Amino acid sequence: MSAADRLLGLGDQVAFVTGAASGIGEAVAHCLAELGARVAIFDRDAEGAARVAREIRARDLDASEVVVDITGEAAVIDAVADAAARLGAPTILVNNAGVQDREPMLDITGDEWDRIQRINLRGAFLMLRECAKAMVAAGRPGAIVNIASLGVEHPMIPGLAAYSASKGGLKALTRNAAFELMAHGIRVNAILPGGVATPGSSHGAARKVVGPGSTRPAPLGQLMPPDIAAAVAFLVSPAAQKITGQSLAVDSGWLLT
Ligand SMILES: NC(=O)c1ccc[n+]([C@@H]2O[C@H](COP(=O)([O-])OP(=O)(O)OC[C@H]3O[C@@H](n4cnc5c(N)ncnc54)[C@H](O)[C@@H]3O)[C@@H](O)[C@H]2O)c1
Repeated sequence: MSAADRLLGLGDQVAFVTGAASGIGEAVAHCLAELGARVAIFDRDAEGAARVAREIRARDLDASEVVVDITGEAAVIDAVADAAARLGAPTILVNNAGVQDREPMLDITGDEWDRIQRINLRGAFLMLRECAKAMVAAGRPGAIVNIASLGVEHPMIPGLAAYSASKGGLKALTRNAAFELMAHGIRVNAILPGGVATPGSSHGAARKVVGPGSTRPAPLGQLMPPDIAAAVAFLVSPAAQKITGQSLAVDSGWLLT
């Protein structure tokens, strides 16, 4: 086995990736499949999920779609159980599905607040709980990566208070889940991406222009979905087998400026 395979190879791994019909999740699904994992594309967008799974299979890699809205508890329980029965218990979960809709601080309604927490935080929690249960039942070590946001550390764009609060919750969930699950050999880490060019980020901006965002450039260049996928690939890999409870900023140097 080559050093690259030993450190980064994912042969014999089953990866569930949420929100993989678009943007960052799509790049993560391709990347983990390239490294040898069987990948399940969890998304509420049936057409997009089928397209991504088809495109990965066209590369002679292993992918299938699982259509689910992660806000539904019963739906998540069924989807994880069905996918595990078809593909094998997950050894990797990438909790990536999320919305980044914007609303000025003074206008956010309670309903809008709840909707964002429900998708970005509760949905991620439900997926984490169900996948961790499946990992424990299978008796295999596992790796979970939660996609939070650099907005947890520093505001970048106005209108993202509810969003950033949900991602702050996800960062706290990461640490607590890592603490409770390490006895089962399950690692839990988070990535805090800076601004990444995706359909979701441009859609969020188009829906509501709340005000000008930071004009500070990212010193190492515009972040693209494969940049985040590469960090996910490291955190779920054997190379990271002693890393848990951490939040890794992938921000192209923005926080340092
Ligand atoms: N793009 C950025 O600048 C950026 C920065 C920091 C963090 N993030 C985070 O990265 C993740 C991916 O963002 P993206 O920019 O690729 O967005 P995107 O909109 O391109 O993709 C998000 C995917 O999540 C799916 N999804 C949304 N709600 C869902 C639900 N309830 N159930 C199932 N699937 C659902 C969508 O259908 C879509 O396929 C999000 O959690 C986002 O908050 C993005």
